[in-house]
Amino acid sequence: MRRKILAGNWKMNLTPLEARQLIRALRAAIDPEAAALARDRDVLVAPPAVSLAAAAQELAGSNIALAAQNMHYEDQGAFTGEVSAPMLKALGATHVILGHSERRHLFGESDELINRKVRAAVKHRLVPILCVGETQQEHDAGKTTEVILRQTRSGLEGLDGRAAARAIIAYEPVWAIGTGRTATPAQASLVHGTIREIVAERFGTECAGAVRVLYGGSVTPDNVDGLIASHDIDGALVGGASLKADSFARIVRTRAA
Ligand code: 13P
Repeated sequence: MRRKILAGNWKMNLTPLEARQLIRALRAAIDPEAAALARDRDVLVAPPAVSLAAAAQELAGSNIALAAQNMHYEDQGAFTGEVSAPMLKALGATHVILGHSERRHLFGESDELINRKVRAAVKHRLVPILCVGETQQEHDAGKTTEVILRQTRSGLEGLDGRAAARAIIAYEPVWAIGTGRTATPAQASLVHGTIREIVAERFGTECAGAVRVLYGGSVTPDNVDGLIASHDIDGALVGGASLKADSFARIVRTRAA
């Protein structure tokens, strides 16, 4: 039985002070149920790099894990503006989102670069949350499977079975991100099944049975239950709706988990 994951990607939002306020409000909403929730689901938030330290302090003593949104693959060096895995770990991060579509499409990150980052995360025992997903154009051209195959295979290249089983993959169709257009549970399930087949082919069925595949793209309190009810959808990576304590608390409490 795979534990569900409800993850909030704050993107480029919330200063350290605002991060503290949101986490306090979120904890006030879910802490009373924390023990029950922790039985079958993991919760994590991904603040921007500058707010990680403040977030880590506010999360102390909770079951909510801390994720970063990106990192460089080198440990240190002349890489102006970048942040490394050891730096993220020093701030208390346990997970890192890699290959988000905004990194791929707005900042030109290639499959090869993303794979280097995934391998660096694994080396430093940060759990990578590898994002994959097709654009609207690729979707319309019937290329979804091809894109998912390429991004998933390349993203996990060089990992051993244990690391692959611990990794988290997030299917985020680019056309659903920030658009209010969610993939239907059936559409998402189909792609999640494909991702699991890719993992099985490369790492074996045991690994494919363990790896958790999240859905992201316009997840809200109103559609989360339907998505998470699918056997193949192991949770949600939530953007906009994770920026308000009440909506993210509702998502965390999803009945179907
Ligand atoms: P939205 O939930 O705002 O569509 O963003 C999804 C996303 O990109 C999460 O990583």
